Amino acid sequence: MMAQTIALRVAAVTPLSPTLKAFTFVPAAGGLVPPSGPGAHLRLFLRDGAKLHKNAYSLIANPADRSHLSIIVRRVAASKGGSAFLHEQVGEGDVIEAGLPANLFPVTRTARRHLMVSGGIGVTPFLAYIAAFAAEGTPWQLHHFCRPDEREVFAALLAPYAGGSLHIHCDGTLDGLDAALRRQPLGTHLYTCGPESLMGAVLGQAQALGWPKVRLHSESFGGAVAGGEPFIAVLKRSGIEVAVDAETGLLDAIEAAGVEAPCLCRGGACGQCLIEVADGVPEHRDHFLDAEERASNRFIMTCVSRSRTPRLVLDL
Ligand code: FES
Repeated sequence: MMAQTIALRVAAVTPLSPTLKAFTFVPAAGGLVPPSGPGAHLRLFLRDGAKLHKNAYSLIANPADRSHLSIIVRRVAASKGGSAFLHEQVGEGDVIEAGLPANLFPVTRTARRHLMVSGGIGVTPFLAYIAAFAAEGTPWQLHHFCRPDEREVFAALLAPYAGGSLHIHCDGTLDGLDAALRRQPLGTHLYTCGPESLMGAVLGQAQALGWPKVRLHSESFGGAVAGGEPFIAVLKRSGIEVAVDAETGLLDAIEAAGVEAPCLCRGGACGQCLIEVADGVPEHRDHFLDAEERASNRFIMTCVSRSRTPRLVLDL
């Protein structure tokens, strides 16, 4: 067993829509699931033949209930990754290795009010937020943007939670966002999760309206496009040369070569996969490095970024 992992048994698989399934896990050895908090995610290690997918999913249940862990997974069309594997090959009774829950998107406990804006499957961390808020009696407001054909799915997921104000928008516009951002009392914290375009619009509009950055929170998981020009990654410490083809991400290629590399979110957000670049020019696709760090080309986030040069030498 890998360090800091737990074996989880799939207790239930619940289809929610043609592309969404909920998975419920319990410890394979019995007992309680590891502690987590609202906004935490679970990293699954999915063995698919010779491939090992390491995918992170937000936990959706109230963290105070340690009888189980639950996630929702969207099957992306043409995906060859972990989400397709979960949808097609994982069923009740299967045992899966997982990392311990980690939280990169926690609730700000000093906030006087919580405003959440989500898009599509980006609502998942907020299911855990509002489950906790409802249990504590903390007021909340959620604006959820989704496709019309998924309105009922998300409405049903959000229905059990009291004490808040829920707004589901399905008209394909962000109308209503401006009013939501303007009508918040001082001390409100804003959280957003969903497609990059939605999060960019939410954060941009909030900053334009004068929200302090310290009250803005966002989470992005696995939204980056893996593909691009092929290149060779040279791992300086071992001398291994890894061919990164047009369809594969750099981190995936490194792992496929049997080299352990640090990572957590695999979406360019957490900073865990940062590696120093010894030679070559990275093509930055992350949300972690600031403008100065990007311009220096001294570092690369291997989970989402690639190379502008045919060879990229990494301090790995
Ligand atoms: S693993 Fe989180 S930024 Fe790369």
